[in-house]
Amino acid sequence: MKQILSLILSFTLFFPLAACDTGESGSKIQYAAPSRQAPEISTPSEDGSDSGDANILVAYFSATGNTRVLAECAADVLNADLYEIQAQTPYTSEDLNYNDSSSRTSKEQNDPSARPEISGQVENMEKYDIVILGYPIWWGQASKIVSTFLESYDFSGKTIVPFCTSGSSGIGSSDKNLSELCSESASWKEGKRFSSDTSREDVAEWLNSLELVLKTSSDISVSSFDLDNGENGKAPAVLLNSGYRMPVAGIGTYSLLDDTCVESVVSALKSGVRLIDTAYMYHNEAEVGKAVRESGVPREEIFVTTKLYPSQFDRAAEAIDEAMEKLNLGYIDLMLLHHPGKGDVDAYKAMEQAVKDGKIRSIGLSNWYIEEMEEFLPQITVMPALVQNEIHPYYQENDVIPYMHEKGIVMEGWYPLGGRGYTHELLNDETIVAIAQLHGKSAAQVILRWNLQKGVVVIPGSSNPDHISENISLFDFKLTEDEMERINSLDRGEKHDWY
Ligand SMILES: Cc1cc2nc3c(=O)[nH]c(=O)nc-3n(C[C@H](O)[C@H](O)[C@H](O)COP(=O)(O)O)c2cc1C
Repeated sequence: MKQILSLILSFTLFFPLAACDTGESGSKIQYAAPSRQAPEISTPSEDGSDSGDANILVAYFSATGNTRVLAECAADVLNADLYEIQAQTPYTSEDLNYNDSSSRTSKEQNDPSARPEISGQVENMEKYDIVILGYPIWWGQASKIVSTFLESYDFSGKTIVPFCTSGSSGIGSSDKNLSELCSESASWKEGKRFSSDTSREDVAEWLNSLELVLKTSSDISVSSFDLDNGENGKAPAVLLNSGYRMPVAGIGTYSLLDDTCVESVVSALKSGVRLIDTAYMYHNEAEVGKAVRESGVPREEIFVTTKLYPSQFDRAAEAIDEAMEKLNLGYIDLMLLHHPGKGDVDAYKAMEQAVKDGKIRSIGLSNWYIEEMEEFLPQITVMPALVQNEIHPYYQENDVIPYMHEKGIVMEGWYPLGGRGYTHELLNDETIVAIAQLHGKSAAQVILRWNLQKGVVVIPGSSNPDHISENISLFDFKLTEDEMERINSLDRGEKHDWY
């Protein structure tokens, strides 16, 4: 068997991979002229430039240059950072002699505990969400130095996409064996083997097929809203990582039913509200849709969010179509999973598919906290655009908000005014009332403004036209740092609902 392998290798080893050549060396296979155009997986950004370059690392080991060619190509296509895993003691041609069973590589590959030392390290590995990992196949497995690399960092929560180059062998069990060296919470994608006739297009096509979703680029700020450009009755927008804009203040429709719901939403739209939050569980999607259609405001100016309830998770694709029918607005701006539950990953994947089908524009989650996110994110491919949780001065989520913002996820607060049964206490809180008096504003407006200044979108519910109008009049005053701090200090970690 070993002899047969040697024979195969002797035919194949000396035909190096040459695709993705930049054209300097005439002997190499040429590929279509390099273009800077990123594949579809790049995140849209306002100016059309590539984004997400900060969160993908292409790391590779290459002894004879084949893997390097493809790694450089992948980094170029993705506009990602490139890192070469270099051996502390470089491999000589004797070391690489596969015919010599006592060669360095042969010994290393046969020794399960061998961990060849690496020279240098990746700076700030923590900033990467996705690591594309390239390596050559040596005797059917990844070169051992790749094991050293994987054991040198914490890959928890990261997505790892392996690829290999070889003379003729497939990727075999090499990627699976490597995955076992990493934290269980790392998400391993299926590995891919490349051969000598690989072109740049092949690499780009493969990367594209992975449907990786890149983190929002740093020029998209989800943590501080453009409040100075807001006007009463006209909330500014935040750019979601899906590329769509969403107003930062709107109306929640929980408990608004039938005509009350239609009237409240129409009244909100008249007051300038352009963000409406509903859910399957609120039993008013049809009324929200009706109000939008009857309002006379162009559909594309309005942003409608709805949610799938856990009872729908096992038939999510159908449930999405039902929500589309009830709303009857052509498309859904944002759909969230209402709270974690059995089948939530599959339901989320159904939403991902609905985005591709043009039914939904952006997707996200509701009632997901850090622990739930850590478990959920490695299982999905599209980063949520938004997370909607209970947030008010008595339940501030000061740990969750920066966590989401750091991932480029917009935070939205439900129960911004404390929620049913608690509004009275919150609106009469003496700190808030004192600040409100100073600004000549209501306590509700101060709380909503506090949320906005913290980078939290607000969707207070109301059927009272005066309150609705008041809730969108948040842009003619500003809380000072001291006032923000005074409200921050009211946190009691006091949840007002069970989610
Ligand atoms: C020590 C050694 C062992 C190898 N074993 C295999 C093998 O088992 N199967 C195979 O198809 N190619 C094998 N190859 C060929 C390499 O996998 C192939 O040339 C690869 O593209 C080299 O990548 P690099 O240039 O990035 O180092 C071996 C090469 C070397 C040096």
